Amino acid sequence: MLAYRHAFHAGNHADVLKHCVLQQVLAYMNQKDKPYWVIDTHAGAGMYSLASDYANKKSEYKDGIARLWEQNDLPEILQEYVDLIRVCNVKGDWTLYPGSPEVIRRSIRADDRVRLFELHPTDFAILEDHFERDRQAKLFKADGFASLKALLPPPTRRAVIFMDPPYELKSDYLKVVEALREGIKRFAEGVYIVWYPILTRGDHIDLIESLSELSNKTLNISMTVQEPDQDGFGMLGSGLFMINPPWTLAESMQTVMPYLTEHLAQFEGASFDISESVA
Ligand SMILES: C[S@@+](CC[C@H](N)C(=O)[O-])C[C@H]1O[C@@H](n2cnc3c(N)ncnc32)[C@H](O)[C@@H]1O
Repeated sequence: MLAYRHAFHAGNHADVLKHCVLQQVLAYMNQKDKPYWVIDTHAGAGMYSLASDYANKKSEYKDGIARLWEQNDLPEILQEYVDLIRVCNVKGDWTLYPGSPEVIRRSIRADDRVRLFELHPTDFAILEDHFERDRQAKLFKADGFASLKALLPPPTRRAVIFMDPPYELKSDYLKVVEALREGIKRFAEGVYIVWYPILTRGDHIDLIESLSELSNKTLNISMTVQEPDQDGFGMLGSGLFMINPPWTLAESMQTVMPYLTEHLAQFEGASFDISESVA
């Protein structure tokens, strides 16, 4: 059963980090003429209303994107990300928040291609509506973990694979590692990006260790913004583990993370980490 709905979390601190990095990776891909594919294995609904009951149940966006959109001293990379959201809100009311498929759509070029996987029937229907007239994208109501290998290598032999599962089931951690292992076997040159939550139970530590064994060209960017809740649980932050990241990304994210961490902090001990391994 699929219980997770991203609409409850859209625009939170984790979305801000993941979408800002995704946009930068695609900007880097655009520096070469050769077309590429973007495969989003867990796409969600594509666009979210921040005026909806879902988004306002816990109002996570208020401690995420809402802390940035009126700032006038944003580092360049964050300004580019906020500008992308601004153009989705033509009325200037900041009620729409673009999910990863929309960030991708607004970042790629005419010859690039998108493949989107989403299993939840309601979110898939919203995604289908949203991409109805899009000729660059193909959508699949299928398991993104299991389906990835069939698309690799892509015909252009350039691709970004973005994997953003809910991790509500512990098995997602193992599936991420297995899907990447299979993916790399078929397409070692791909740029792989895995999002993960930082939870009090520390599952991300084993995940990062297993993913690190798959490649010697990796980058891990993480940010902790919250303390555990009163019962000792909760999502303290999140991170992105990348294989074959753009070689400039670690350095350019150094210009963003201090600002981002300071502005999204919900306690005094907020912190970030950027760790690169280059063979
Ligand atoms: C964290 S959300 C994705 C958010 C989206 N990537 C974004 O950044 O806007 C995870 C999504 O994965 C979907 N999902 C869960 N298991 C899946 C699977 N095995 N294959 C494809 N989608 C799945 C969920 O329904 C949910 O919409």
